[in-house]
Amino acid sequence: MKPMLRLENLTVEFGRGAQRVRAVHEVSFDIAQGETLGLVGESGSGKSSLGRAVLQLIPVAGGSVHFEGQELVGLSSGKMRSLRRHVQMVFQDPSLNPRQRAGDMLSEVLSTHALHTGAERGPRIAQLLDLVGLKTEHAERFPHEFSGGQKQRLGIARALAVEPSFIVADEPLSALDMSIQAQIVNLLIRLREQLGLTLLFISHDLDMVQYLCDRVVVLYLGRVMEIASTVELFSSPAHPYTRALLSAAPVPDPDQAPPQVVLHGDPPSPLNPPSGCVFRTRCPHALAACAETTPELRPTSAGRLLACWRHDELN
Ligand SMILES: Nc1ncnc2c1ncn2[C@@H]1O[C@H](COP(=O)(O)OP(=O)(O)O)[C@@H](O)[C@H]1O
Ligand code: SF4
Ligand SMILES: [Mg+2]
Repeated sequence: MKPMLRLENLTVEFGRGAQRVRAVHEVSFDIAQGETLGLVGESGSGKSSLGRAVLQLIPVAGGSVHFEGQELVGLSSGKMRSLRRHVQMVFQDPSLNPRQRAGDMLSEVLSTHALHTGAERGPRIAQLLDLVGLKTEHAERFPHEFSGGQKQRLGIARALAVEPSFIVADEPLSALDMSIQAQIVNLLIRLREQLGLTLLFISHDLDMVQYLCDRVVVLYLGRVMEIASTVELFSSPAHPYTRALLSAAPVPDPDQAPPQVVLHGDPPSPLNPPSGCVFRTRCPHALAACAETTPELRPTSAGRLLACWRHDELN
């Protein structure tokens, strides 16, 4: 499949001098048109920074982001503004203006992009509300009159208003109750099919990632540890970090075998990452060599990508 988005050595840094944090470290991967790519990793692993950097919402310290053949890094703000229509972000908290009715909010987005002017405006707003499972009369409501799940639906409608082809969804379910989470995931699945969307789905909920995504990128301290298809990753996680992450997740079926590896403690400070393999301080398979040089992401014979010195033994 044709890549819609291609990241090459994307790097994001915050702070200066001794306080400098490399939140995303030379990350490279593609997202194919129509694909849903999951981005997983513990809190602080750089998922949000990566998602924001892809859409140029925060400065990039190095590397490139090709979107449909166009380089986004260093693009003038005028050109980026017109591209914004095609790339949108959905957040955990949709941050709705409490004094603005839902319909006015959508109308404002359409005005900003000069879309559906005049008599087309009302029907388009009704259509957007319907698309995300809300009703036409919801246009008259203020944010406080919506439930958490309805607010997230409205946040998704706002992103869809500009007819994007690519959406970064950053933990869109984290603020919602379990039953509502399933509804929003099913909404994303329906919209993906109906509108042909390409998605970068950021989540720490591995069940949802397994349910929704085609392929998964595993991040640890800003670096990619493993990239594999969802089926492969969940049936046979290869990287020691992926194994630990999956075994640390709650097991829905109590009859299933207990986890073999457990992730102890917190990740090291990104201000002072370990030498060599950044996972070595928590890795049950670490060798002396792991402290010396950083393993590169390399393809295995099975076609997945792993950054681990014990690459051949562990997959
Ligand atoms: N605006 C910021 N200023 C300074 N450090 C930041 C900022 N945003 C994120 N970071 C740091 O970058 C790292 C990655 O954070 P983030 O991308 O939010 O991770 P995640 O989304 O995986 O939890 C963390 O160490 C975090 O403290
Ligand atoms: S390179 Fe070494 S420390 Fe890092 S994941 Fe592989 S075995 Fe563990
Ligand atoms: Mg985050």
